[in-house]
Amino acid sequence: MSTKRRLGNADVYAIGLGCMNLSHAYGPPPSTTDAAKILRSAVDLGVTHFDTAALYGFGSNESLLGEVLAPFRDQLHIATKCGMTGVGGKRVIDGRPESLKRTIEDSLRRLHTDVIDLCYLHRWDKQIPIEDSIGALADMVAEGKILAIGLSEVSAATLRRAHAVHTIAAVQSEYSLWSRNVEVAILEETRRIGAAFVAFSPLGRGYLTGTPPVPSLFSPSDIRTAMPRFQEPHWSLNLAVHAKLPALAAAAGISCAQLCLGWLLSRGPHLIAIPGTTNINHLHDNVGAGSISVPAESLDQLDKLIDFTTISGARYSNSTQYEIDTEEMPVQ
Ligand SMILES: NC(=O)c1ccc[n+]([C@@H]2O[C@H](COP(=O)([O-])OP(=O)(O)OC[C@H]3O[C@@H](n4cnc5c(N)ncnc54)[C@H](OP(=O)(O)O)[C@@H]3O)[C@@H](O)[C@H]2O)c1
Repeated sequence: MSTKRRLGNADVYAIGLGCMNLSHAYGPPPSTTDAAKILRSAVDLGVTHFDTAALYGFGSNESLLGEVLAPFRDQLHIATKCGMTGVGGKRVIDGRPESLKRTIEDSLRRLHTDVIDLCYLHRWDKQIPIEDSIGALADMVAEGKILAIGLSEVSAATLRRAHAVHTIAAVQSEYSLWSRNVEVAILEETRRIGAAFVAFSPLGRGYLTGTPPVPSLFSPSDIRTAMPRFQEPHWSLNLAVHAKLPALAAAAGISCAQLCLGWLLSRGPHLIAIPGTTNINHLHDNVGAGSISVPAESLDQLDKLIDFTTISGARYSNSTQYEIDTEEMPVQ
């Protein structure tokens, strides 16, 4: 992989590994042995940036990374997230300074590391002024426990308030061909302040690949069951749009996932993508996207085929939407 981009205090390969689904999210996760194989293969393929969170597997994802990546720790850039954790088996957003500091101490222990390269506030807890939450993270920087601070799913206005307290090195929000709302403001705001933009769910949680998921087969623990786009009548409409994607990828001589990741990396030099996978072949496919240059004509055609005007359904349910702060595209 040839493309390196700035993320916090390091240059990382433009395709990182999102580690969430090694512990939860899309149905039963892989065994620890299989998850460890994915992580080690990613290192072998040249991936340097790994994305986890205290939330994922309620701590087990960080423990997995801590154990498997320990031998390579010095060569890697590891990001985790605080401010959303599992309490009593439930997901809880808590941005109080004391909670954030406690979570970071827990993350350090689970990740088997003395310092976290990048720590995001996973969600802005709207009960707590953003300045207070960022102040707590700034204290952790001063104590040498984290190197850089990030935010996830925030608006440009919230980013500006946070950045006034402490340098924000990165914003991580959903961004892909079918989730364009960061184009309203936050993508440009990260560029303006010199922060990286880390695109999560860059493959549309499986939609932007050659093998889109089959929602009728989702297990009850698959978080996509609650997402309107994967529900009818939206899913059938979205599949009809998807039908033209394989031909575009074939014309460019690459896979659907590579075409869609290539489109993301073309959106700006401060973009980094963190696709997630439980499958070694998919890992190779995704990592390969970091060294491919997609022809401009293919990018144009793709850009017109899949965007917020051609996609049907909201990305989140109303209750999840309430938890985030990112600007939304006008309703179609
Ligand atoms: N900050 C936040 O709030 C937030 C929220 C969500 C996610 N994230 C981060 O973003 C990372 C990635 O997001 P994500 O996992 O939600 O979505 P994603 O990367 O868009 O898609 C993952 C899905 O696509 C499939 N897939 C991956 N590569 C493929 C390929 N080459 N061909 C065919 N199918 C492929 C995977 O199935 P297989 O396992 O079969 O490959 C999986 O079902 C997460 O791991 C997490 O680190 C952050």
